[in-house]
Amino acid sequence: MTRIFETEADRWVSVYRPTSSGEPRFAIFQESVRRRLFRRRDLALELLDPRPGMTVLDIGCGHGTFARQVLDAGARWVGADISIEMLRRGQTALADAGDAPRWMNAEASALPVRSNAFDAVLCIGVLNYHTLDEVERILVELGRVLRPGGTAVVSSLRLDPITWARSRLYPTVPVPVGVPGPLFPHPADRITGLLDGKDLAVVASLDVKKYGFQPHYTLLKLARSKRPVEERRRVAFRSPRPRIGVGATRE
Ligand SMILES: C[S@@+](CC[C@H](N)C(=O)[O-])C[C@H]1O[C@@H](n2cnc3c(N)ncnc32)[C@H](O)[C@@H]1O
Repeated sequence: MTRIFETEADRWVSVYRPTSSGEPRFAIFQESVRRRLFRRRDLALELLDPRPGMTVLDIGCGHGTFARQVLDAGARWVGADISIEMLRRGQTALADAGDAPRWMNAEASALPVRSNAFDAVLCIGVLNYHTLDEVERILVELGRVLRPGGTAVVSSLRLDPITWARSRLYPTVPVPVGVPGPLFPHPADRITGLLDGKDLAVVASLDVKKYGFQPHYTLLKLARSKRPVEERRRVAFRSPRPRIGVGATRE
């Protein structure tokens, strides 16, 4: 996985650029991919709703696609990515923001971050590079670093057969716009199915696109409950006792 983005960093960054910077003959394809990615980014930001003072961890931040808008909203942004090359591209792209964006070279399932540290977490375009077991480990870690009551926005992916094949063949077969792969599409319900017992619940979901031959992203907004699961259990267990106590005092 790391290898894909270490060697494909420039290609990934270029997908986010206006078509004029791509190869003209592929412009129409590039524009279509770009539009979808921008739509995904804007909708994810809408769900995230960054506010002044909020701390946001962007897991698999790539070249900092979300950093500018999060910082402009007055929130603090920390990006974590396994690929040093992607982080380098990000630092260059956001050089004018000084040391406001913080960059971290880290694996999503083992983040060097204390528990409950962030108000919000983003994980966009990342889970689809992992097997279901790996996705589960990433979600556990995401829940650990998110503070109780915090929210996360993650993306799931359903693929049409053509894009799936393109991602499998890439980079062996030249394609108009590369789909760094292989991709492991996990539709939204598969991701939701992993949330049981993780103290995370889906509070909103948004479909980015639904064409026959297009990848179909669903953005899931997850919320961590205000109290950790163990604490809720303890409260429920304890609750009869004060009532008995109050009754006894009145008598
Ligand atoms: C498709 S890019 C998406 C970048 C950005 N989130 C966006 O939406 O534009 C995926 C990024 O996730 C990173 N990534 C994938 N798996 C990761 C993992 N297990 N830990 C950390 N970063 C990971 C890759 O290095 C790459 O930069």
